[in-house]
Amino acid sequence: MPKRPYVIEEMISAKTIAARVEDLSREIHDEFEGTDKLVVVGLLRGSFVFIADLVRELDLPVEVDFIEASSYGNKTESSREVRILKDLRGEIAGRDVLVVEDIVDTGHTLKHVIGLVNAKGPKRLKTIALLDKPSRREVDISADWIGFEIPDEFVVGYGIDFAQRNRNLSYIGKVRFTNE
Ligand code: PRP
Repeated sequence: MPKRPYVIEEMISAKTIAARVEDLSREIHDEFEGTDKLVVVGLLRGSFVFIADLVRELDLPVEVDFIEASSYGNKTESSREVRILKDLRGEIAGRDVLVVEDIVDTGHTLKHVIGLVNAKGPKRLKTIALLDKPSRREVDISADWIGFEIPDEFVVGYGIDFAQRNRNLSYIGKVRFTNE
């Protein structure tokens, strides 16, 4: 549990997120229309809320799978190592695949996961991230679809945690430490 007291200020409301998810799902539908199956791959744990809302908006034959990745090393070092704690359960060779991230920060996680998924030979691979912090990027990577571009703020909610708390907020909030 975090030791420093903090408050959470709303940054992106649940209503705004829902409207954006609807727009994004329309664009994804247009991209993948006619697919025999779209494998939607969520990155645990942060993407669990986003993927749940997104797939329910998608009028396509969908399979849901998950990868859990964890990054080690100093967040500010470009040498950050990404390890896979849980790999895909299903086959994706020759399939249409959509990788779903909650947030792209340095970009190491997404870059590593794209490499891993591509090595399995998908027919088409696209990526989506709810949030993007381009100012934090250390590797040249960007998702095909972005929900919201945000400044370098400490955000929580809608799946995103602070020391494993606050993932269950329906909105995206900004953490503000109260003893600063
Ligand atoms: C967070 C977030 C992204 C990743 C982005 O995951 O969910 O997956 O970091 O960071 P990067 O662009 O700098 O690699 P985290 O490791 O905190 O795990 P979680 O999803 O389980 O919260």
